[in-house]
Amino acid sequence: MALFDNSNIKLDVLKKKAFNYRWAEVPDGVIPLTAADPDYPVAPEIRQALIDYVQDGYFSYTPKMGFPEFSVSISNALKSRKGECIDPKMILPVDSAARAMYIIAQTVLKPGDEMIVFDPVDYLFRESCLSAGGVPIYFPAKLKDGYIDLSDLESYVTKKTKMIGLCNPHNPFGVLYRKEDLEHIMQICEKHDLYIMNDEIWSDIVYPGNKFLSIYSLGNERCRRVMSVFGFSKSFGIAGLRIGCLYGTDQALFQKMVDCSAVMTTAGGASSLSQVAGIACLDKCYYWVDEFIQHLAKNRDYAYERLSKMPGIKAYKPQATYLMYIDISSFGMPAVDFKEFMIKNAKLALVSGGLKFFGNESEGHARICIATSFEILKEGLDRLEKGIDLLISEKHQE
Ligand SMILES: Cc1ncc(COP(=O)(O)O)c(C=O)c1O
Repeated sequence: MALFDNSNIKLDVLKKKAFNYRWAEVPDGVIPLTAADPDYPVAPEIRQALIDYVQDGYFSYTPKMGFPEFSVSISNALKSRKGECIDPKMILPVDSAARAMYIIAQTVLKPGDEMIVFDPVDYLFRESCLSAGGVPIYFPAKLKDGYIDLSDLESYVTKKTKMIGLCNPHNPFGVLYRKEDLEHIMQICEKHDLYIMNDEIWSDIVYPGNKFLSIYSLGNERCRRVMSVFGFSKSFGIAGLRIGCLYGTDQALFQKMVDCSAVMTTAGGASSLSQVAGIACLDKCYYWVDEFIQHLAKNRDYAYERLSKMPGIKAYKPQATYLMYIDISSFGMPAVDFKEFMIKNAKLALVSGGLKFFGNESEGHARICIATSFEILKEGLDRLEKGIDLLISEKHQE
């Protein structure tokens, strides 16, 4: 049986175990194409590594900087998957990519400092900034020729700006950055002495024909102001294990991140089981990720074709990520109302645009997660289509 067959998805288990707007949280009968979390069980190697570790029966304290072999695995994966040369000693495992973002914000922002947050982008950029007392300054990110138009970015820099948030690949647009984009962002940061929160959690999920380019391609020396985030939830499906990491190339800045992470007091850090799973992911499971991408590519092409034909919908075709961003503004209703309408009338849950998840610029939009089987995706899209027909006929009657 192929890894990404529909029959591998255990809906009864998901109904009990998949939270965060997913199966366990939606009403019975509703299909959630919501949070970015695969419907598939993890690779067998991850399960086996956890079983082996549990068998020994010891769950003692871990090294404060994480298992050294984990940092080596991360360093190797960063090198082989995206050409980044990061010393294992400059990598810190923490209890999620989200936490890594919070630590970065704490490291460089003082209350009142500004951080440029793209709008739309994942809400964690805003939330991590706010958690440090920072002030998010929203940069309206619009696409031009299929990439984010950065020509106006510098005009959002003020005397108070300390950092720019870079989501590469970008959630929710699913776009990559080109060399000239990264150069543009770096030059602004060099000119105004800004840091970069560089979130690469999506860098594994890139569709054939596209290439992920890391900001480190500009050279490690220039990237001393870059603080990076990597995670395991999207590529390997272990969101519930809360594991991620921070890394950088500047010793002093890295030390500050370590201090802010509270790993030295044991108040912070990643659990042993999560690190064991993380090692298995990186050392043994990229074959799984590569097959997953093949599967996702088919889902993406199918979803894009279907969505493009639906009345009133404008779909964005992602170069990366398993997220499909759609423009629903033609229906002339708040995105939250569109979401509620679909749950109630079409038994389909999606993520609504608007301030909460992505920023005000995402009002009139929605996001669909396609990390499921072809069959479930098809059923979800059938429901969306029926829901839209109903919505249009109700609007005509008004
Ligand atoms: C861009 C981005 N960064 C960070 C995260 C958080 O990942 P984790 O759940 O591993 O903390 C997500 C999750 O959706 C994300 O999309």
